[in-house]
Amino acid sequence: MTLSHGSLVTIDDLSNAEIEAVFSLADEMAGEIDKQLDVCKGKIMASLFFEPSTRTRLSFEAAMHRLGGNVIGVVDAKATSLAKGESIADMARIVGSYADIIVIRHPWEGAARVVADYSGVPVINAGDGGHQHPTQTLLDLYTIKKERHAIQGLNIALWGDLKYGRTIHSLIFALAKFGANILFCPSPGLEVPPNIVRKLITEYGGEIESKEETADRNKEGSFPIDAVYITPSSPHQLAMMPDVNIEVELRKGVDALYVTRPQKERFAEGEDREDKELPVVDKRLLRGKEFKKALVMHPLPRVDELAYDVDADPRSRYFKQAAYGVPIRMALLALLLDCKECVVKEDVVSAKGYDYPVYDRGYAVKCPNPVCVSVQETETKYLKPEFKIVNRDPLTLRCVYCEHGFEPGYVASVDWHEGKLDTKKYHSADSHFARKIKPGNLVLFDSESEARELGYKPSSYVKHASSRK
Ligand code: CP
Repeated sequence: MTLSHGSLVTIDDLSNAEIEAVFSLADEMAGEIDKQLDVCKGKIMASLFFEPSTRTRLSFEAAMHRLGGNVIGVVDAKATSLAKGESIADMARIVGSYADIIVIRHPWEGAARVVADYSGVPVINAGDGGHQHPTQTLLDLYTIKKERHAIQGLNIALWGDLKYGRTIHSLIFALAKFGANILFCPSPGLEVPPNIVRKLITEYGGEIESKEETADRNKEGSFPIDAVYITPSSPHQLAMMPDVNIEVELRKGVDALYVTRPQKERFAEGEDREDKELPVVDKRLLRGKEFKKALVMHPLPRVDELAYDVDADPRSRYFKQAAYGVPIRMALLALLLDCKECVVKEDVVSAKGYDYPVYDRGYAVKCPNPVCVSVQETETKYLKPEFKIVNRDPLTLRCVYCEHGFEPGYVASVDWHEGKLDTKKYHSADSHFARKIKPGNLVLFDSESEARELGYKPSSYVKHASSRK
C-alpha cells in the first residue's frame, strides 16, 4: 500500500496509521542505514530551499543519497528565475519535469500547496513561512514514541514562540490526533493563533482551558503555562470529560518540554520585543518537580531560549531528535516515490475529515495574511483566492493556502438581485439576514467600498464600519 496523499503539504495529509507506517519503515532503515542504496536508485530529488536551513535540507539530501538517489537543488531564490518574476506555478511545472520528487522550503505560506498543485510529482513541504513544517513533526513524534513508547495521554508542553513557530503548528495537530494533552507555554505576546485554536477545538474535538493571569505567571523560575488542551481519545469521551484542570494535569508532570526559539524573522513591524522578556529553559527551571521525567526537545536552531547547561542533562533529547531526521526522511521519500510499500493498519484515531463548503468566487475578498502565497504579485495572475467556510456565526473563512482565518465584513447573495440593480444589496456579515444565504450563493466583501465598487448598495441590514465593533 502507498500513502493516500501523493504529497505531504500539511500534517493532515497523513492519517495516524500512515504516520505509524512511516515510523516502522524508518526503524527498519535506521537498522541498516548504509544498506539501502538500491531503494531509490535512478530517482531524482529536487531540493528547493528559499530560506536558510541546516537540518532539514542536509538530512533530506543525506536521506536521498542513502537511498541511492540523486539530488539537484537551489538554496537561494536569487539564483533561480523567481528573481526575474517567474511564478511559483511555472517553476513547479519546470522542476516537476526534471525531478521525481520536490522538497521545498519557502517564506510564503501556502507555497508548497501551489507547488503540489502544479508540479505533477510528489511534493514535501519543508517549511512554508510560519504555517507548517510537517516532516519536523514526524521526527518530533518519532522521538517521543521512541522514548515513551506511546503518545496518547502524555502531557506535552510547548514553550516559546507558539505564534510564528511552524513546527509548533503542525505538532499541535499531530499531538491532538494521537491523543496527547498539550500545555501551552507561550512567550508573552507569542500565543497560539486563533485559527489554530479554532481548528483544534472544532476538528480535533478536545477542550481548552485558559489559565487566569496569576501573580507568579512571569516570575523567574516559574512554569509560564497559559492554557491546556485535552484531547478525547474517542469521540464519546469528550461528553464524559470532567472540567479540564491545569493544576491536575501539572500534578501528573510533563512528559516532554518542546522548546522553540522566537521566530524574529517573522515578527510583524513593531513586534520586536526585548529578549529579557522571553523565558529561558535552563537547569534551574528543570529542577521543578513537574519536569522530573520530562524529555527536553527543540527543533533547533536555538538562540537564547534554551541554555547550554541543559545539554549534559540526561533529559535532553534535541540532538538525537535532529539525527532522527535522516531515517524518517528516508522512509518518507521511499514511500512517496513508490519505491517501498507500507502496511497501513486501520485508522483508529484520526482527525475527522471536515468537508466545509468552499468560497472561490475569486473577487472582492482576499486573504488578509500578507505572507500568504495567494496575495503575492507574481501569483495573483493565476491563483484564484479560495476559502473554506468554517463557520456561519460569525461567518469565518479559512484560506486554503495558508489556513489563515478571518471574518469578512459584508455579504450579498448572487440569486437575490436577479440582475435588477435596485435589489443588488449587500448586508453586514453578522446580520441574521446574511446567515440565511446559502454558502453556494454567497458573495463576500472585505469592506463597504469594495461592495459599492462592484455595484452593490447597502441594505437595511448594514452596520456601517464606524458602528461595527
Ligand atoms: N528544525 C529545522 O527546521 O531546522 P533547519 O531550519 O536548520 O532546517
